[in-house]
Amino acid sequence: MNPSIRPSVQDLTAYTPGEQPKVDKLIKLNTNENPYPPSPAVARVLREFPVETLRLYPDPVCSALRERIAAWSGVTPDQVLVGNGSDEVLRLAIWAFTAPGGAVAAFEPTYSLYPVLAAAEEVAYRTVALPEGFGWTDPPHDVEASLFLLTNPNAPTGVFYPVEAIRDFCQRFPGVVLVDEAYVDFSGGRDCLALARDCDNVLVCRTLSKSFSLAGLRIGYAIGAPALIAALSKLKDSYNVDRLAQTVALAALEDVAWMQDNTRRIVATRERVVAELARRGFSIVPSAANFLFVAPPAGLLAQDLFAQLREKKILVRYFPGPRTGRYLRISIGTDAEMDALLAAF
Ligand SMILES: Cc1ncc(COP(=O)(O)O)c(C=O)c1O
Repeated sequence: MNPSIRPSVQDLTAYTPGEQPKVDKLIKLNTNENPYPPSPAVARVLREFPVETLRLYPDPVCSALRERIAAWSGVTPDQVLVGNGSDEVLRLAIWAFTAPGGAVAAFEPTYSLYPVLAAAEEVAYRTVALPEGFGWTDPPHDVEASLFLLTNPNAPTGVFYPVEAIRDFCQRFPGVVLVDEAYVDFSGGRDCLALARDCDNVLVCRTLSKSFSLAGLRIGYAIGAPALIAALSKLKDSYNVDRLAQTVALAALEDVAWMQDNTRRIVATRERVVAELARRGFSIVPSAANFLFVAPPAGLLAQDLFAQLREKKILVRYFPGPRTGRYLRISIGTDAEMDALLAAF
């Protein structure tokens, strides 16, 4: 025990990110990345980027990017905060919307980073168990937390909760509700942006990592009431989004059609794989995301299948635990990658 290390940090179990292997020729279906490249506009701005400007600090408040996101989302720029990935936005939200000794709440299972961020901030993490099948359940009226993290569609299940049920919950929850829409572009046009516009306690959080094929760039953003955005903004690093990332993100957001074409392709692949896996006896949680949460047929253990796929150089994700340990989470890759997975099964 080193007494210089804060006890909460000493005790913290760090988040385990999906493996980023250094081995070539792996089929990587473990971290919900997009199998298709970002817009050609991204390659163009990178080629033409004025390298000498890297001498200068970036715009601390991402003005151009916030204007673009605001116009696309039907809000004003003071309703947008851009972060270094949406993980940064989540960390800022826990910091801003909990008091010392306070609590954050979320459904269980959900994004496994949330409890780590809560522990790092030394606030309690309360969970609301999802029912069998992982569909919506109304959180109890007395859930004691000042922030509710609600992933829609949820991860790792892929389930999309009805927007009206979320609206009802937001209207009765006394704290802030952050709707994490990391995967919403794969959900067929449904989203909770209207809640962020209408309710002064709702933030919607999005990322360019998934649908825009830019996980390597680190851009996420929050949309909500100006007072909530201003609170997050006070806490962010002064220059939290670098110059290159701001330029590239803007180019990507000016070619939304490219992103939409890719998401359509991924959704078509997802539906084909659902049918194929069902034929092979898997049970599949209905997914509105770019991944599937599937339980293997009777007699096969998810954990063994995970290890056998890895031997065949196919990486998927396995989350041990009482609620998740029966399942594998499989990101949707190209059609060829998914055919290789089906052949391996
Ligand atoms: C539900 C959810 N939210 C947020 C993130 C983080 O995204 P970003 O790459 O923007 O930090 C992820 C990444 O996997 C996620 O699954």
